[in-house]
Amino acid sequence: MLPKEYTNTCAESDKMKESLDQITLPSGLSLSRVVTGLWQMADQERDGKAFDLDAAAEALADYAREGFTTFDMADHYGSAEIVAGKAAQILAAEGGPRPTILTKWCPEPGEMDAATVRRGVETALERLAMDRVDVMQFHWWQYQSPEYLDALSELMKLREEGLVGHIGLTNFDAAHLRMVLKQGIEIATNQVCFSVVDRRAAGELTRVAAEHGVGILGFGTLCGGFLSQKWLGVEKPAQIEDWSRMKYMRFVETAGGWDRFQHLLGALALIAERHGVSVSNVASRWVLEQGATAGVIVGVRLGENAHRDDNRRMLGFALDDADKAAIAEAAMQPIPGDCGDEYRKPPFLTASGDLSHHLDALPPVMVVSEPRPGRQRAESGSIWEEKAGFARAVRKGKRILVSGTTATDPHGGAVCKGDAAGQAVYILDKIAGAVSSLGGTLEDVLRTRIFLTNEADWQAVSEVHARYFGEIRPANTLIVVKELIGGYEVEIEAEAELD
Ligand SMILES: NC(=O)c1ccc[n+]([C@@H]2O[C@H](COP(=O)([O-])OP(=O)(O)OC[C@H]3O[C@@H](n4cnc5c(N)ncnc54)[C@H](OP(=O)(O)O)[C@@H]3O)[C@@H](O)[C@H]2O)c1
Repeated sequence: MLPKEYTNTCAESDKMKESLDQITLPSGLSLSRVVTGLWQMADQERDGKAFDLDAAAEALADYAREGFTTFDMADHYGSAEIVAGKAAQILAAEGGPRPTILTKWCPEPGEMDAATVRRGVETALERLAMDRVDVMQFHWWQYQSPEYLDALSELMKLREEGLVGHIGLTNFDAAHLRMVLKQGIEIATNQVCFSVVDRRAAGELTRVAAEHGVGILGFGTLCGGFLSQKWLGVEKPAQIEDWSRMKYMRFVETAGGWDRFQHLLGALALIAERHGVSVSNVASRWVLEQGATAGVIVGVRLGENAHRDDNRRMLGFALDDADKAAIAEAAMQPIPGDCGDEYRKPPFLTASGDLSHHLDALPPVMVVSEPRPGRQRAESGSIWEEKAGFARAVRKGKRILVSGTTATDPHGGAVCKGDAAGQAVYILDKIAGAVSSLGGTLEDVLRTRIFLTNEADWQAVSEVHARYFGEIRPANTLIVVKELIGGYEVEIEAEAELD
């Protein structure tokens, strides 16, 4: 649970009488527990469809007038940032509430120097016509590319400068959220898929977030609208038009299919009836009641169904033990993996089933060369690889050997100083990057060797190892040594063989 003093409080000022419950997080960020999500705007503008931005801004201002004062958007949600900026101006002109603006920056992996990060933030500010964004949420496509730590460090500087109020993440899993925090980056929120269908965030992510006072923002809590009375007892749709439901149908399929989904909907409907609320309210409430949830993001199609009166009701009741037991009993199969995996590995649970809406291609993680026929090497760019005459990894035939790897960033600095589990996460990403650069995957790893300097870290590091290799189960050796060069807590090497 988030500490008691951080749980929701109602805003008290006169202007906010109609406000929804607010939550103030340990970071000091205050936001409505029901956040208005604007991804749907990208769908409404799809294929260049005409969309009246002024009318959309008026429609969005109505949300704030009725207390829905927190808006969520991103660099790739069509004109959402422009429309939110216009809505903020309309509200300011009439003395209405100032909306809290959450946007996202989802850059293509590559160098994240100060100028690149500043440009990312300034682009959002220009579109919003604002001089500060309340929360800049950062998404990263592949952890094997380590530049995300540079991006987050630069965002910290822009926060000091006042361009960014708070730093949020989106689609970070538990291990990487924890690692980023241990690296000293101050994170207010992490936005992830979270619903009665997709319960991944209720596990380790909730534990890490609660421990560190990070608020989870759940999206997909209504599975694009499927989690509503409208779909109870309805045949599986033969065709789906909107991106949101295309995506969540993939989740439904992964969690066991339409019939099992109907069973879950039926259970939610019984609970809804008992409380005199809607099926959607029960689904949203379940997410809100999880231990680290700061808010739920409900997607809106501006100018279409608003659902405001209904969504307000999710704040006026609580699930009892019998309700929770009934939801647990009707639960579908777990969505495999951790939060954000749907954007990082197959099967991609995105609208298109791949990353084609987002990226053309992911850049190579390491530089690969073939110094002599049949022998390839992968280099991470560390100056020591040349100075000491070794490669990060070498491939000969089907065999790949990865050098002893520490949590050294591309600039030669140590990542997560003093935290062996955080270092292990960084190292295993580097190893995954080295193996994939040479044509393999972690599935091909046959052996790992872990060297620790502090025996007390064995369990935490082993648990990280299990997150990467749980199903693969390579042979493993765990050794405690007196000291590692560079003062690291852990070093790992690996051997793989391709099929
Ligand atoms: N960070 C990320 O990677 C990410 C990814 C996806 C989404 N998001 C964010 O999360 C937001 C949520 O979008 P989502 O796609 O996940 O959709 P969602 O919120 O699960 O579903 C939204 C749809 O649910 C229906 N709905 C809303 N309230 C309802 C109610 N009370 N009763 C019945 N139906 C109701 C509406 O459908 P109808 O219009 O058919 O009535 C609405 O379009 C996005 O806009 C975006 O801000 C973030």
